[in-house]
Formats: sequence, C-alpha cells, structure tokens
Amino acid sequence: MKKIIITIDGYSSCGKSTLAKQLAKKLDYVYIDSGAMYRAITLYFLQNRVDWTSSAAVNAALADIHLEFMCNPLSGASEMFLNDENVEHLIREMIIAEKVSEVAAVKEVREFAVAQQKKMGARKGIVMDGRDIGTVVFPHAELKIFMTADIAIRVERRFRELYAKNKNITIEEVKQNLELRDYIDANREISPLRKADDAIILDNSQLTLENQLELVMQWVEDAIMEH
Ligand code: DC
Repeated sequence: MKKIIITIDGYSSCGKSTLAKQLAKKLDYVYIDSGAMYRAITLYFLQNRVDWTSSAAVNAALADIHLEFMCNPLSGASEMFLNDENVEHLIREMIIAEKVSEVAAVKEVREFAVAQQKKMGARKGIVMDGRDIGTVVFPHAELKIFMTADIAIRVERRFRELYAKNKNITIEEVKQNLELRDYIDANREISPLRKADDAIILDNSQLTLENQLELVMQWVEDAIMEH
C-alpha cells in the first residue's frame, strides 16, 4: 500500500503522542515525537547553563548537540538520545516542561530541529506530532490532523501522568504550565501553533482511543485514495 506522511499538531496534552504511536503501530509507520527534540535541547541548555537569549551561545551549543531516536528493544518504543545518552525520562520532568516553550521559540533552535525533521520524512511512512508539523515541516503532507480537547480534560490527564511519578505536584501547577505553554506556543513569532488550512480537526474530549483510531484510519484510507 502507498505510504504517506501524517502530521498531528495541537495543544499540549491533547493525547497527540498516544494517538500517533498507536496509529504508527497499526500502519507499520515510523513515529516521531518532535516535541522530544525541543525537550532534549532544553535539557542540554539547562545542564550546560546556555543563555538562550544569546544567538552566539545558542549556535555554539547546537554545534555540540546530536539528537537521535532509538528503538528500545524491550518495549519497542522509540526513545530520545542526546549525545548518545538515553534522556527519555529526564526530558519528561516538570523542570523541562517549564522552560521548553521558551527554548522552542528561539529561531536557531527551530531551524536546527526542523532541518532534521524534514530529513526524517524523506522516505514517507511516518507519523510526526508537534506544533508546526503540518504548517512548516511537512506543508505537503497527505494527511494533517489538528487535535484539541477541553482544557479541564487535558489538565486532568496530564496531572494523572505526572502525579504517578511525583506526588508533590498540584493540579493548579499543571493547569498553569499547560496554559502558559499553549500561550507561548500559539503566540511566538516563528512558526506558532496554528491549524493548517487543510488539517482536519479532531476534538477528543469525549472520544476513547479506539474511537479516535477508527476515525483516523478512515481518514488515512481516504488520503491514500486521494493522492
Ligand atoms: O509535544 P510536547 O509537549 O512534548 O512539546 C514540548 C514543547 O516543544 C511544546 O511546549 C512546544 C514545543 N514544540 C514546538 O514548538 N514545535 C514542535 N513541533 C513540537 C514541540
């Protein structure tokens, strides 16, 4: 069957990666979590005290950053490696969530990440999720999805995820972080989060993962027929 590029953009904690992973599995496609790249760069900047308001400092730091996704042979999941170190767990910490939107708004950081993302799509057969995948990274993707869900539902989902790892976290902290990230992501100057004109909206507030997969598999079939 013909392989296509599927982009999934949307607000933080809408369930983009959960859907993207399952979809890639069903289709035997490669899943790429573009947010993990911005998170890994943020981790490097924090660990090395890089001043991301200085383009000279950012350029020097980026020259030392090598990002790679590698498959965990035990779980089959794709995990983020920063300079050959598995940082999959570290990049999910709240301290990264607090800074990543600022780092992801830096022009040099975006150029660095987007160039690598474009190369990953060269062979098609991929599902990539993020904020600007359908608008900037793959403007010609065959299927573009824009995900959204009620803020209260997103907060609840994210809180449960984080609370499982850290009992000190409060629901108010999670809500503030999500709202702030959405605001910065949607209002930054370069490639802000927005729906591509030809993206299909998927509001999953009231949908199970199975419902979503069923819908999206139909869209995939339609997109393959059309292209
Ligand atoms: O998807 P995520 O929550 O892991 O993404 C982390 C941050 O990275 C998010 O707040 C915005 C940024 N991001 C981006 O600017 N562009 C992307 N394509 C993906 C993520």
